Amino acid sequence: MTYEFILVESQFQPHISLIRLNRPKELNALNLQLMQEIKHALYELDNNEDVRCIIITGNEKAFAAGADIKQMESKTAIDMLKIDQFETWDQIRKTKKPVIAAVSGFCLGGGCELAMTCDMIVASETAKFGQPEIKLAIMPGAGGTQRLTRAVGKALAMEMVLTGKFISAQEAFDSGLINRVVPEEIYLDEAVKLAKEIAQQSPIAIRLAKESVLKAFDSGLQEGLFFERKNFYMCFASEDQKEGMNAFVEKRKPEFKGK
Ligand code: CAA
Repeated sequence: MTYEFILVESQFQPHISLIRLNRPKELNALNLQLMQEIKHALYELDNNEDVRCIIITGNEKAFAAGADIKQMESKTAIDMLKIDQFETWDQIRKTKKPVIAAVSGFCLGGGCELAMTCDMIVASETAKFGQPEIKLAIMPGAGGTQRLTRAVGKALAMEMVLTGKFISAQEAFDSGLINRVVPEEIYLDEAVKLAKEIAQQSPIAIRLAKESVLKAFDSGLQEGLFFERKNFYMCFASEDQKEGMNAFVEKRKPEFKGK
């Protein structure tokens, strides 16, 4: 598949892939095709044995300014139901490998929801996060009311969703929405640094651990604990676990093969 609205480098760095949203004139507004392209690229990278971590980024001015308003403007409720665009988002959420959002500039509406659908967020100091849908007389539809509230708590989420106010990268960091805030010149490098740390680990343990952390988002404590335990036991079926523990005992660096 050739992509029109994204650029993909599967070996951006060893074991690390980069997906760059590429509709700069429209501030990377997420039209339906762009979302399909992200879904397709993530699926391919998820099934590529050489890839251990994926970064999604935009450009300095915008990660993404939301779903494409021009594409939705004249739609009826039934049109939206039939298009069922959020099925694409559910697929994106199913990516097994860790996905990091590297964010600069506007990260709004569906853009903020896309970043929150990723596993971690590294932002530049110039990033602005917001759910301004209310100003269009709609509301977040791609998980914003749920993921934002779980990440930053009720007070701030309620204010952002009901007023549409933007928060700075520093506020986003202080409220627990993002992992890092760094100068604009290095936000992508910083995301790569984080990705490299992840790529050094056993891909099997990483997959099971990611699944388990996400379970904390999706379920009650007891179900989450049960799920975690199962995945913990499963780690012991891998060669990587033997290698990791053996390397510790032998005081050497482990070499993980994803087996
Ligand atoms: N959809 C479609 N086009 C968009 C867009 C969007 N979400 N955001 C920006 N654009 C377009 C603008 O229309 C403009 O195009 P033209 O040059 O053809 O006029 C171009 O991108 C540049 O934008 P601006 O001139 O507005 O740039 P600015 O710097 O003055 O303002 C901004 C930047 C504050 C981000 C402003 O563009 C803005 O408010 N955008 C909309 C943000 C928004 O409401 N997002 C939520 C969308 S709904 C949603 O996401 C639903 C969901 O939950 C899935």
